[in-house]
Amino acid sequence: MAKSPTTSPSEDPALGRDVLVATKFHVPRAGFVPRPRLLARLSQGIGSGLTVVCTPAGFGKTTMLGDWARRSRVPAAWLSLDAADNDPARFWRYVAAALDRVRPGTDAPVTALLQGRQQPPLEAVATVVINELSAPGKGGVALVLDDYHLVEAPPVHDSITFLLDRLPPGLRLVLSSRADPPLPLARLRGRGQLAELRAADLRFTLAETAAFLREVTGLDLPAVSVAALQERTEGWAAGVQLAALALRGQADPAGFIATFAGSHRYVLDYLTGEVLAGQPEHVLRFLLETSVLDRLCGPLCDAVTGRIGSQALLEELDRANLFVVPLDEVRQWWRYHHLFADLLRARLERERPTALPGLHRAAAAWHEEHGLADDAVRHATAAGETGWAARLVERHVETLLRRSQGATLDRWISALPAESIRARARLCLAQAVAAVVAGRPEAAEPLLASAERAFAASGDEPHEPSVGRALSVLANVPASIAFLRADLARMRGDAARAVAYDQQALTHLGEDDWILRSMVAWNLAAAHWLRGELGEAERALDDLFQGVFDLRSPVADGDGCPESTLLTQRRTWRFSWTPTWTPSPLHSTSGPMTC
Ligand SMILES: Nc1ncnc2c1ncn2[C@@H]1O[C@H](COP(=O)(O)OP(=O)(O)OP(=O)(O)O)[C@@H](O)[C@H]1O
Ligand SMILES: [Mg+2]
Repeated sequence: MAKSPTTSPSEDPALGRDVLVATKFHVPRAGFVPRPRLLARLSQGIGSGLTVVCTPAGFGKTTMLGDWARRSRVPAAWLSLDAADNDPARFWRYVAAALDRVRPGTDAPVTALLQGRQQPPLEAVATVVINELSAPGKGGVALVLDDYHLVEAPPVHDSITFLLDRLPPGLRLVLSSRADPPLPLARLRGRGQLAELRAADLRFTLAETAAFLREVTGLDLPAVSVAALQERTEGWAAGVQLAALALRGQADPAGFIATFAGSHRYVLDYLTGEVLAGQPEHVLRFLLETSVLDRLCGPLCDAVTGRIGSQALLEELDRANLFVVPLDEVRQWWRYHHLFADLLRARLERERPTALPGLHRAAAAWHEEHGLADDAVRHATAAGETGWAARLVERHVETLLRRSQGATLDRWISALPAESIRARARLCLAQAVAAVVAGRPEAAEPLLASAERAFAASGDEPHEPSVGRALSVLANVPASIAFLRADLARMRGDAARAVAYDQQALTHLGEDDWILRSMVAWNLAAAHWLRGELGEAERALDDLFQGVFDLRSPVADGDGCPESTLLTQRRTWRFSWTPTWTPSPLHSTSGPMTC
């Protein structure tokens, strides 16, 4: 799973095995203005348990923490969060992978827990992390979660609170956020388990502002001008940086400094305007057009701008301090500073609104081609290509379901218009599966009816599931509808109806529908068992195992699929059904087995 994060973000669609995006683990480089007093504060505070660095945007949180993490004697596991981490399963997979980089072995048990088809309680996931880090004799680890304000999902906050309440001595947590995180800070403060750094701490001092200006402008500005700039920006790092960039081309630096004042937002808008006005036309165009991207690399920017040479331009922007943040050590991936990106996007929308769909279309095509489903869906949606976005969701939905990432599915689905979802049988089916897995079977029935209507209206469409046909539950729509109805009927205890629907499903199944056939067989066996027809139940299971151990079956080689191990068990153990078991279409097959 997270074994081989890659610098070039990509996902291997096969069997839901994925490669995590390595840029999220990249420790940012230190700023050129040294801040030893802050590093000392951090090192001192880190022993407390939780350290919160909380300031508005652009105060130098990430830069300071990057500097600290690179020097710290306590190994630091770094994770840059983004909005997609509101999916709790994804959040914890990334946390475990980040920890694994400094404490190998942390990732495997978490990934194993999360790759089941039903999401485990997050407390269980946090407990696995706690246990892994509690092992004696391994030394401490600091987990740095940058941009924690992007997490809004209460389950993630709850699970972090759970972790904080049981923090093992070997783990220290550091959060950077633009707002106070909704965690029990007062309680931790009262217990002396919280260290805090806030805007007042992170403001550049006069000496730091002077050092910054000297480095960026190459000018030896009079002390009074530096003091004026310090006062106007209130030591706000992003403001000082913009001012320094804007000063570069000014004939009268002192006069320029006297002209701006006001809120951060105003200073930012004003100075960004000045900085952008000083850029050559091709650079300005590049900045605006690529501002639609969350992460930038040369080939992606070439695809979006329709020009070549983006790699060299990105390196140039980085050297010029133009708010381009490297995301790796090899100068392959960058992002714009969030503040700068927001302003560029606002300007693009204002000045070239008609260019937007084309830029997003090109971005969607590049991400699709490189197997990056999440970005592809986002850009296709932003381009207004809802049909394309819906097809992408359909294609990748089962990878999400296999990784318990139902929240990501909800996010994808909610970005699509309701009618385009209702018109696509597999999207309705995917939601029905997600509803059953989430323990809301009552929500599944109407979705199955919608799936049936959509299939009747538009028939089948070419479909290439990301998990492959054999492991797809959605590829064969009529069989899938019948199976889900059988599953729901069995859960209600209506065994007769379950058998009827399972048999209906069997008539639709093809040679390639391996996993669906297995599920139908399990369900049929369970339904027969419910009716007291033990002979029929055994026969249904025998059919299933013949299929499983067929050499051509996708799990015959023990590819790590949970079915493989469990079915091996079935081969040697006696069949004994536990009546409390309530299987679901994406339920682990472990339920019905007892030794
Ligand atoms: N010590 C420093 N030396 C040089 N530049 C710095 C330093 N600290 C911050 N900066 C610059 O100031 C800008 C804002 O810093 P940074 O991105 O670290 O702020 P932030 O508080 O993390 O912002 P956000 O809340 O948007 O994430 C960046 O362009 C960064 O390069
Ligand atoms: Mg930051």
